[in-house]
Amino acid sequence: MVHLVSLSKAMSSKLFLTTSTILLLSVFLSSIDQIKIVSHLFQTKKLSASDKHIIPIVDAVGPESFAFDPHGGGPYTGVSDGRIIKWLQNEQQWIGFAVTSLHRDGCEGSHDHEQMEHICGRPLGLQFDQRSGHLYIADAYMGLAVVGPEGGLATKVATEAQGIPFGFTNGLDIDQRSGVVYFTDSSWRYRRRNYISVIVSGDKTGRLMKYDPKSKETTVLLENLTYPNGVALSKDGDFILFADTTNCKILRLWLKSSKSGIVEDFAHLRISDNIRRNLKESFGLQFM
Ligand SMILES: *[C@@H]1O[C@H](CO)[C@@H](O)[C@H](O)[C@H]1NC(C)=O
Repeated sequence: MVHLVSLSKAMSSKLFLTTSTILLLSVFLSSIDQIKIVSHLFQTKKLSASDKHIIPIVDAVGPESFAFDPHGGGPYTGVSDGRIIKWLQNEQQWIGFAVTSLHRDGCEGSHDHEQMEHICGRPLGLQFDQRSGHLYIADAYMGLAVVGPEGGLATKVATEAQGIPFGFTNGLDIDQRSGVVYFTDSSWRYRRRNYISVIVSGDKTGRLMKYDPKSKETTVLLENLTYPNGVALSKDGDFILFADTTNCKILRLWLKSSKSGIVEDFAHLRISDNIRRNLKESFGLQFM
């Protein structure tokens, strides 16, 4: 009897976590349509142990960010074994869509961060260029990469800036008018698997950058940052928000107008990770 009670307690706390994950996800999605799609996907008619409406991600953990293609397909997300997977709504299953590394022996389903991440890749920030249908990927180990609408092996487009290789490429957003990609390298000193060291050491080697697909040039916008993480452009592209994970802040860099180049505090929070904007210009945050 005692066993039954504790089992049902354990079950309900697990289900509670699942519900908060669903709420959390809904907050991040960047448009009303996307929220509809996902709340449908994650819909739970009635919370019960046999509920099958949660999308299971088989053999991998750690989805970091979500993106939808120009036709509303997806979501797409990167998982810990280096794959970018896509949710097929009609078939109700995930399929492999893209990878960032050619060398994938022993990668599938891998959870061995220490030994495998730098080989298999670890896609973090994802965003589609809505005009071309190309998916841009900030991979913690492979740098900035892009893959066409058919998926497959992504092509690296930037792995260093000002002669310093990226160490921990992380957040990404795209200005859909110009196609310019904004992204962060959280640290050139530490890798993703040592992210705790980035915080504890007070590392200040992070950079916020932009990549212009037309000129293929990478420009450093801000350097000496403490753990820059998720990024989100404003609706008009006049400023960009980025998380300063170490200092639990969201900073704003103005990109246009007389304020261009000015950095200011936007919000003080808990340790924050990802940022997404919705159509109404409100920003959703993901916490670590
Ligand atoms: C960043 O730090 C380096 C090394 O301390 C320094 O040389 C450089 O001027 C700094 N850059 C800015 C923009 O403060």
